[in-house]
Amino acid sequence: EQAEKQGYEHFMLKEIFEQPKVLRDTVRGRISDDNSSVLLKDISLGREEIKKIKKLFITACGTAYHAGVVGKYVIEKLVRLPVEVDIASEYRYRDPIIDPDSLVIVISQSGETADTLAALREAHRKGARVIAVTNVVDSSIAREADDVIYTWAGPEIAVASTKAYTTQLIAMYLLALYFAEIRGTLQGSEINEILTSLRQVPGQVQEMLNDTAQIQDFAGQYARHENAFFIGRGLDYTVATEGALKLKEISYIHAEAYAAGELKHGTLALIVENMPVVALATQPALLEKMISNIKEVHARGASIIGVALEGIAEMEEVSEKVIYIPRTHPVLTSVLTVVPLQLLAYYMAVARGCDVDKPRNLAKAVTVE
Ligand code: G6P
Repeated sequence: EQAEKQGYEHFMLKEIFEQPKVLRDTVRGRISDDNSSVLLKDISLGREEIKKIKKLFITACGTAYHAGVVGKYVIEKLVRLPVEVDIASEYRYRDPIIDPDSLVIVISQSGETADTLAALREAHRKGARVIAVTNVVDSSIAREADDVIYTWAGPEIAVASTKAYTTQLIAMYLLALYFAEIRGTLQGSEINEILTSLRQVPGQVQEMLNDTAQIQDFAGQYARHENAFFIGRGLDYTVATEGALKLKEISYIHAEAYAAGELKHGTLALIVENMPVVALATQPALLEKMISNIKEVHARGASIIGVALEGIAEMEEVSEKVIYIPRTHPVLTSVLTVVPLQLLAYYMAVARGCDVDKPRNLAKAVTVE
């Protein structure tokens, strides 16, 4: 096992550090050389069929579900198609209104999660086509889906998912841009701009991983807390849900993700002196509103760890600490924003002496419903 960890203390850390490589692997061969279009040869769904889709569903469990929530945001924004995203264990029990003009996307690292497989079968039973986004070739979900987009994350050993999640995000971006081009919802220049930025993301993740000292230091300072909040708006809120899950899974700190604008409708009552609040503020269009939400928690004594784009000096005024992420297209920030959250969870769990790779009560793949 030590040999497999290649010098890293835990599989989780090794897998976090593998992200630049596996993100590149997942992009490879799927973007034209001139960054003008997505080449999604993986899926057999024809152009005319893609144009006919009226509604999209995304269903998954755990971290894969969180990738689906980002997928909804990105697809609705870029493709202007309504997307419903469901937790797979809830999906079929609500008798979803699926018809042959619906497309169902299931996301699963292992390809074996029982509830996700059952959701796939329900979609088929109702006549929809299913695209699977999975990391395991020839898994049950890969075999039963009509089409598969593989994430090339390689084996993920740590129970808490990291590199599988970020490669799932890449799959969501590629699918959204592929559909946007076919359905004509984005101009060629916009597609080119986003794809050019997407190509830079793996290198930017590497840049962040080159220096983790600041995050290790913050983790040490916050590790003794038993509660934490993650707040954000828009795309940042979707990433906040994954940040909170990572922290809960491996450090057993109670963490909650909240849409920043919703705080004042109840949760603000829980903000007490020194409560750690991770505030994600990477969306330029929402920055001003986000800063006023940060001020609300700051005024109640919370200790703010801000996550912002490089150069956003306003964050320093309202945060105890700021982690900066490299600049990219606003729709692509999710892949970058989650990296410091993964590291924060990891180093906090290590500081608390937790069994990082094998958290209590959790399994890597859940094959019972
Ligand atoms: C388990 C794992 C999670 C994972 C979820 C879904 O709960 O502990 O890390 O996100 O299953 O797994 P899947 O293989 O379907 O992505």
